[in-house]
Amino acid sequence: MIAAGLARAGATTVINGRRPERVETVLAELRAADPAAAFEGAAADVATAEGVAALLAALPEVDILVNNLGIFGAVPVLDVDDELWQRYWDTNVMSGVRLSRAYLPGMRDRGWGRVLFLASDSAVAIPAEMVHYGVTKTALLAVSRGYAKAMAGTGVTVNSVIAGPTHTEGVEEFARQLVGDDLPWDEAQHEFMVHHRPNSLIQRLIEPEEIANMVVYLSSPLAAASTGGALRVDGGYVDSILP
Ligand SMILES: NC(=O)c1ccc[n+]([C@@H]2O[C@H](COP(=O)([O-])OP(=O)(O)OC[C@H]3O[C@@H](n4cnc5c(N)ncnc54)[C@H](OP(=O)(O)O)[C@@H]3O)[C@@H](O)[C@H]2O)c1
Repeated sequence: MIAAGLARAGATTVINGRRPERVETVLAELRAADPAAAFEGAAADVATAEGVAALLAALPEVDILVNNLGIFGAVPVLDVDDELWQRYWDTNVMSGVRLSRAYLPGMRDRGWGRVLFLASDSAVAIPAEMVHYGVTKTALLAVSRGYAKAMAGTGVTVNSVIAGPTHTEGVEEFARQLVGDDLPWDEAQHEFMVHHRPNSLIQRLIEPEEIANMVVYLSSPLAAASTGGALRVDGGYVDSILP
C-alpha cells in the first residue's frame, strides 16, 4: 500500500524483500493495479550488512527511503535469548540504520530527501509479551530523531510513523486465533477489538492504506516543516496526547 501510494503520487518506487520470486510477484500485482505508475524491485536481505551492501550496489541513490521492514512475535520476556534479541535488533533497527546512513549524505548533497521509519504503538506502550519488539521500535524513535538532527537545515526530513494495530494478513490470523474462525470477519474484528484492543478509539483495525496515507504525506513537499518527530496513525490506541 505504501509503494502503491508513493507511485500514485508520482515517485518511481522500488520495493524490497528477501526473495526475488516474491518481489517479482508483488511487482506484477502493483503494475497490474496501476499500469501508469513506475515500479521496480530489488531483492536483498536488509537485515544483514551484506544484504544492505547488495541493495546499495543495485540502487546507489534514492530521494525517499521508507524503512518498513519489521518482524514481530509474542515471546515471554524472560524467554528471549541472546540470539532472538540480536535477530530483532539486526532486522528491525540495523536495517534502517544502515540504509539511512548510506542514503542520507546523497539526499543532503542534493538538498532534498525524506526518510521514514515505521515504528509502532509498541514503541511507547511496551507490550508485556513483545518487549523485544517494543525495544526495537523505541530505538527507531531515537534513531529517527538523531538522523533528523544530523540533517538540520539541509531540506532533508526524517520522521517516524507510529502505526497502531493494522489489518494485515498476519494480524488477521492473530485475531482469528484469539476469537475463533466461526464468525464473519466484521464480527470477529469487533470481538477482537472489544476484548483484546479496548484502548483503540476507532474500535477497528487500521487499514494499510491509512498508514500509507501518512507515509505519502510525510514523503511529499507538503510536509517540509515536519521533521524529527513521531506521527501517530494508531486509531488513538496509545492513551496519550503526545507524540
Ligand atoms: N501489522 C501491524 O499491526 C503493525 C502495527 C504497528 C507497526 N507495524 C510495523 O509496520 C511494518 C510493516 O509491518 P507488516 O505487518 O506489514 O509486516 P509483514 O506483513 O510481516 O511484511 C514484512 C515484509 O518485510 C519483508 N521482509 C521480512 N524480512 C526481511 C528482510 N530481512 N529483508 C528484506 N525484507 C524482509 C517481507 O518480505 P519477504 O518475506 O519476501 O522478505 C514482507 O514483505 C513493520 O515495521 C511493523 O513493525 C505493523
